[in-house]
Amino acid sequence: MQKKARYSNNAFFDDSKVIIITGASSGIGKAVAQALVRYKPKLVLTARRKRKLYHTANLLKKQKLKVLPIVSDIRNREDRTRIIDLTLKMFGRIDVLINNAGLGKANLFLNQPEEEIDQLIETNILSLIKMTHAVVPIMEEQGGGSIINISSSLAMLPVYPFAVYCATKSAVKVFGDGIRQELKDYGISVSTVLPGPYNTEFNKISGLNDEIVNGKAVDKLAIKIAKLTIKPKNNLIQPRSFIPLLWITEKFGFLKEKITLKIAEQIYKARIANIKKIEFEETKLEEKEIELAVATKTKN
Ligand SMILES: NC(=O)c1ccc[n+]([C@@H]2O[C@H](COP(=O)([O-])OP(=O)(O)OC[C@H]3O[C@@H](n4cnc5c(N)ncnc54)[C@H](OP(=O)(O)O)[C@@H]3O)[C@@H](O)[C@H]2O)c1
Repeated sequence: MQKKARYSNNAFFDDSKVIIITGASSGIGKAVAQALVRYKPKLVLTARRKRKLYHTANLLKKQKLKVLPIVSDIRNREDRTRIIDLTLKMFGRIDVLINNAGLGKANLFLNQPEEEIDQLIETNILSLIKMTHAVVPIMEEQGGGSIINISSSLAMLPVYPFAVYCATKSAVKVFGDGIRQELKDYGISVSTVLPGPYNTEFNKISGLNDEIVNGKAVDKLAIKIAKLTIKPKNNLIQPRSFIPLLWITEKFGFLKEKITLKIAEQIYKARIANIKKIEFEETKLEEKEIELAVATKTKN
């Protein structure tokens, strides 16, 4: 790559900026898309679930934003190429890539099926690296851009029922730190976001009970992430209360084990509560089916 003049982040935003958000059908990705409305960018939104993705896109179109929803699986090479080709065809450039698509699976490593390990690694880290790899030359050609990667505070606080997830998120952080110096010379910034627990579909998909996780609402986090598109930051830790927690655990290794054990216990509790909730719902469903069968028999 040829070195180019440093991309100025002042006046970074005019209404010609083009932003890709992966995983915009729900949770943090959807909230960030909504938080970006004030900057009037052109948005490319991606996810697998068509109905939910189009719902996000329609909300934004109503606010007069130019939006391109692309139904795609980020793990699929052809889908990643299609996202980039369609973005360039429709909007002509890529200024910001928000690598947000991801998932968790709270499982003990001893019980974790290999397919689940594949899914976590392929979605959370492999696709993120490959998407960045495909977009960076385009940004270099344009004279600059911005990469925003969604990691997790668990990247710094590895906990046992979430080990593979933590490993992928730690890799996201290390990857960001690694490419930052190299890409700086081409005017490309790299920000890593490390969220604590937030209330999204993430908990249910991870197999956790929402009430026990007790996460925060995503609105404020989304505003902070949206701001990174104008003012990049190496690391964004949210909520702010996690900053001292991560600092202390980094500084005092002996505390790390105690704190991670406490978090692990909480996650384990949320997992068991979720299993019980599912069993309870299934029993209720079974009872309903029996009632229905009896009612039909009596009728006949
Ligand atoms: N919520 C939290 O407490 C928390 C904390 C730290 C970090 N994070 C991170 O934040 C990011 C967003 O999660 P969230 O909390 O907003 O959860 P979410 O509501 O479940 O959102 C995840 C998004 O990723 C998309 N996605 C998952 N697999 C995909 C695939 N193979 N291809 C394309 N899109 C895919 C989902 O869309 P489809 O299912 O429609 O494809 C969805 O839009 C994740 O990277 C997660 O690890 C979350």
